Amino acid sequence: MSYQENATDLGDGEVAALLFEYMPKIAAEHKTDSLLMLMADLGRQIVRADRCSLWLIDEERNELWTKVAHGVSELRIPLSAGFVGYSLKTGKPVLVEDAYRDSRFDRRSDIKSGYHTTSVMTMPLESDDRVMGVFQAINKIGDNVFFSKKDLERLKLISVYSAKTIESAIRAQKLESYAKQLERKAEELESAHMELIRILGEVSEFRSQEVGDHIHRVSEISRMIARYYGLSAEQQKLIYYASLLHDLGKVGIPDTVLKKGGRLTDSEYAQMKSHSIIGRTLLRDSKTDLLCMAADIAGAHHERWDGLGYPDKLKGENIPLAARICAVADVLDALSSPRCYKPAWAEKLVKDEILKSRGTHFQPELVDILIDHWDEFYSCYRPDGEFIKKGLLPPVK
Ligand SMILES: [Fe+2]
Ligand SMILES: [Fe+2]
Repeated sequence: MSYQENATDLGDGEVAALLFEYMPKIAAEHKTDSLLMLMADLGRQIVRADRCSLWLIDEERNELWTKVAHGVSELRIPLSAGFVGYSLKTGKPVLVEDAYRDSRFDRRSDIKSGYHTTSVMTMPLESDDRVMGVFQAINKIGDNVFFSKKDLERLKLISVYSAKTIESAIRAQKLESYAKQLERKAEELESAHMELIRILGEVSEFRSQEVGDHIHRVSEISRMIARYYGLSAEQQKLIYYASLLHDLGKVGIPDTVLKKGGRLTDSEYAQMKSHSIIGRTLLRDSKTDLLCMAADIAGAHHERWDGLGYPDKLKGENIPLAARICAVADVLDALSSPRCYKPAWAEKLVKDEILKSRGTHFQPELVDILIDHWDEFYSCYRPDGEFIKKGLLPPVK
């Protein structure tokens, strides 16, 4: 049976049944467009109208719009147009038997669509003491030709329900879009932060006279060790970025020491060693996890597992884990790369030296990780290695 064949007005029990039928559908729907359609459907059935539409104010464009009116796609009209505009402006309902005999009627939509409007009801959609739109029913169907006062009361009931529901959906959508904007901003901020750290790391590398992407390799190796050690993805990322700053303190060492070609005197060596304290001092007042970790690494990457390192002679697990990890990576890269005072060591010598440092210079478990996955770690120094494929530069020979 088609909708129009069941044409008698609904009793109160039937209206209640319809409301109960629609409530779960409406509660489950969060999109404004779909809610408008559901509400229009509900309204049409309750007041026995041929067409129903909910018009909402578009504050940006100063128009009324409805996304889904029956038989019509999105429509836009001026705020003051027709019966809807009248209800919006005055906050009063409209109950009209013949639209064409009422001066408030705007015939343009009939002319455009070829539809013929006769009886009309409109009801303002009010929420929090403001009119947010208008509910409109057009052309009574069934045994009665016109909408009655009872229909108007029912339209009011649905309008109150619709206004509250749509208001919360709009609020939820605004919150969702605000949350997405915040997320985007946070991502932008984080990538700017990481970029600055990378640049700062490169400045320190340039200052340290290091060549050939040393800090990036140390960071990548530190991240890999952290992964095999079982740290979380977040911790691995922090270690990667924090390791970029392990020698930041070298920005505070004078050129006469940093660029001295020959052997350092005792006092020059002491000055050189102070880069760990300078780095930690530069970073330690930060409140972010990343820079706190960077301060730990900068301050303790020359400490040794056996307590014979510098500057604080920390021993074992008193050395922050990130610094223990970065220390292994730093030495692996220093041995495997050429420096102005030495050529790159041969692979076997590097491996032997790392093994010899197990439990003395380095935490045993970290050496085990390196040895167990040696080919993967050492690929950094092989021309066809995975590191090179990742875009990391090999050391300059
Ligand atoms: Fe260092
Ligand atoms: Fe280094």
